[in-house]
Amino acid sequence: MPARICVLLLLLCLVSFCCGSNKPGEVLLVIACPPYTLHARSECSALSHSVLEQQRALVLTGILPGDFVLNVHLMHELFNHWTLLDALPHLSGQARVLGARTEWIIWCQHNTRVSSLRGLLEQLRRQDPRELSFYGHALYDAEATIIHHFSNHKDPQRFPYPMLSAGVIFTGALLRRLADLVASTGHNITVHSDFSIDASYELARFIFDNVPPAPHISTPISGGIMLKSASYICPTAASVPHRKVACVLHAQPEEPLTLGQRRHGCLHTTTGSHIYFAIKTCAKFHKERIPIIERTWAADARNRRYYSDVADVGIPTISTGIPNVQTGHCAKTMAILQLSLKDIGEQLDIRWLMLVDDDTLLSVPRVSALLCRHNATELVYLGQRYGYRLHAPDGFNYHTGGAGIVLSLPLVRLIVERCSCPSASAPDDMILGYCLQALGVPAIPAAGMHQARPQDYAGELLQLQPPLSFHKFWNTDPEHTYRRWLGGSLVNRSAPLEAHKEQPAAGPLHTVMGRHSLAAGFRLLQATGLGKHLDL
Ligand SMILES: *[C@@H]1O[C@H](CO)[C@@H](O)[C@H](O)[C@H]1NC(C)=O
Ligand SMILES: *[C@@H]1O[C@H](CO)[C@@H](O)[C@H](O)[C@H]1NC(C)=O
Ligand SMILES: *[C@@H]1O[C@H](CO)[C@@H](O)[C@H](O)[C@H]1NC(C)=O
Repeated sequence: MPARICVLLLLLCLVSFCCGSNKPGEVLLVIACPPYTLHARSECSALSHSVLEQQRALVLTGILPGDFVLNVHLMHELFNHWTLLDALPHLSGQARVLGARTEWIIWCQHNTRVSSLRGLLEQLRRQDPRELSFYGHALYDAEATIIHHFSNHKDPQRFPYPMLSAGVIFTGALLRRLADLVASTGHNITVHSDFSIDASYELARFIFDNVPPAPHISTPISGGIMLKSASYICPTAASVPHRKVACVLHAQPEEPLTLGQRRHGCLHTTTGSHIYFAIKTCAKFHKERIPIIERTWAADARNRRYYSDVADVGIPTISTGIPNVQTGHCAKTMAILQLSLKDIGEQLDIRWLMLVDDDTLLSVPRVSALLCRHNATELVYLGQRYGYRLHAPDGFNYHTGGAGIVLSLPLVRLIVERCSCPSASAPDDMILGYCLQALGVPAIPAAGMHQARPQDYAGELLQLQPPLSFHKFWNTDPEHTYRRWLGGSLVNRSAPLEAHKEQPAAGPLHTVMGRHSLAAGFRLLQATGLGKHLDL
């Protein structure tokens, strides 16, 4: 280090030592990084690297150290939690990442960018770390949506929740309060659901429901603390022309996935013909839904099979031998996996199985481009990740069924061998997640897969990456969704489906034990425990 800079630093140290009985506050930058995907992990380390580089430059110019000490943490190196509320006990617990002197926490995702650390610190200087506050780019729902538990809370268009990938800033005061609330496993805590679906919305609701504002503060909706919309936190790098305030934090949209590009980390060129699509239907929907699939994504899905409760040669469908139930479908899904393995047989070009509903819309080229990054000879489980009871020891992640679940063939074999249903109508997607967690197979989140319709998501979130799937034809025009959002064009006649040779239906899964609600299925699931054969 040049001598002059050393002297400068020494002087700075002396100044801050002599003048400051109040030591600089800590700014904590936490990068929540999805594990298991190389691409996201390299983005996380690039973000960490960029922030540390900017910090070094600020130190050299004498701007840091000043009011702040900056610490950067990659979450996956500490523990794996994708929801802040579930990570909090660990942040404030043994890891002691969140301390009494932490004034600010900048919560980033792998696709967050810090375009100006200096600008960010200047913003923080203008804000009061003693307030119970959080700042972000505010998103609003257009209508009450299933992914937010239909919480038509007062007025959905007035309840802001943060765009996580743009970065969220919390005061240490608020996070310490939240950590206390979460740790008290509280009687007086309002938690709306055991399900983690949209971590961002659920966090905003938790804060609103449990953290009252200071008495003199008035809020737009009566209740607790709400997100403060910060114009320096932006949905994209260049969000609005003529901005008064520069963007210092922003989300970085994904580059569109394209086939076969090495720089996207493609391991294996993958097309629709490498994927076996197992479509779950029932007699009631043969006429209503299958024609829509045939007019849309079926053209790109040569290996597709319709599995139903009834064999219908006109389509054709394959009977699973399992009577239809209103909810759950566990027995049916297990039967589908068994029958699919038999059907695939020795077809060497099929590497993946994708399980979808008869009202799922897909972009097969984009799914293929995603899969080219994954190694199909390993145990791979991809989809839209939800969580169940993540705060509890028996909690787990699972991929939600309607968005489509992708399994590598070795994993399908493992599931057929090791997982079974607690009842025929237990929730299939959750049982799968529960069983795979017990088998040590992680649920890898795939951005762009959607359990609901485009209108159920904030538009700015849909801009972040080209969508891979949507679900539900209810109150929507599926063909329009397919063209508008999935880059598809309609076909008059998709590749003809070959007639299917009748296979004997799956063996041990015939028993139907009556209908259970999701909750009842779960009580059963919890009562069952894990045996040698995972008797789920
Ligand atoms: C819960 O709330 C009640 C009344 O609001 C209060 O008396 C009680 O002390 C609270 N309990 C805890 C654990 O905070
Ligand atoms: C895929 O995984 C297998 C088994 O772990 C490994 O042997 C192989 O080298 C991997 N292939 C690629 C392209 O990484
Ligand atoms: C489908 O058929 C209609 C009527 O025969 C025709 O007008 C249209 O161009 C066809 N579309 C495609 C994509 O082939």
